[in-house]
Amino acid sequence: MLVSLSSMLKDAHLRKYAVGSFNVYNFETIKGVLKSADELKKPVIVAFGEKYLDNMDVDTVYEVVNSLAKDINTPVALHLDHCKSFKHIIQAVRAGFTSVMFDGSSLSFEENLKKTREITSIAHAVGVTVEAELGALSRGEYSNEDEGKQIYTDPSQAEEFVKKTEVDALAVSIGTVHGMYKGEPKIDIGVLKAISSKIDTPLVLHGGSGTPEATIKECISNGICKINVNTEISMYTVNKIKEALKSNTNYHLSKISLMEVEYIKEVVKKYMNMFYAA
Ligand code: 13P
Repeated sequence: MLVSLSSMLKDAHLRKYAVGSFNVYNFETIKGVLKSADELKKPVIVAFGEKYLDNMDVDTVYEVVNSLAKDINTPVALHLDHCKSFKHIIQAVRAGFTSVMFDGSSLSFEENLKKTREITSIAHAVGVTVEAELGALSRGEYSNEDEGKQIYTDPSQAEEFVKKTEVDALAVSIGTVHGMYKGEPKIDIGVLKAISSKIDTPLVLHGGSGTPEATIKECISNGICKINVNTEISMYTVNKIKEALKSNTNYHLSKISLMEVEYIKEVVKKYMNMFYAA
């Protein structure tokens, strides 16, 4: 069943676990994420990024997710990930998404605050959860995101931002990257602790791919309630399919589609087991 993201995150915040937010862009990715949640009996966030509007439109995403979610017995939130456009946010809200992320990370603090505030006032009026981002992530390897320079979230700005915008969840920048890490990850738990000591809002960790399990657990025990994973799901699945095609070049496309779902599940379940066991 489809549920609100804010109710999901409140429970995670209270009971100190994180809900996995996994990116989707076609039927197979949606099915792989939902089957993982169903088999592990855990809540899940199906995240569709503005970036993937060439792959699917928001109405189709909603129809597919809503229909598949009815058949499983675990809470599902449908989230619009990394959206910079006001128009696309409204389209997702109208389509039935239960939460939206306004990504104002490339804007000045004041502009980000002003635009996020506008979005929360509209989305909250119709019961939709809002996530915003303060600070910025840099780009690792194989990422499909566009960002460049790492800017750590300033804890005092975070306090002011949350108070004035009334966002339900805040994505913070503490050293994770979008994509796979080029060297050793340098995650600053001190920054996360300082943010958590100032605000009680559920915090979001972007750039989950490749983050060591011990770091993930430390992040969860210091206020992270939602963790996003994209790159590793894609990389792992593409590599597995490449390998399979080396030994048999005559696969029917329908068979590759089934393989895709199974490989996606392997990565999604690995992360779900980490996030809920913290
Ligand atoms: P990764 O691609 O590093 O897993 O990050 C995903 C993400 O943060 C999507 O919002």
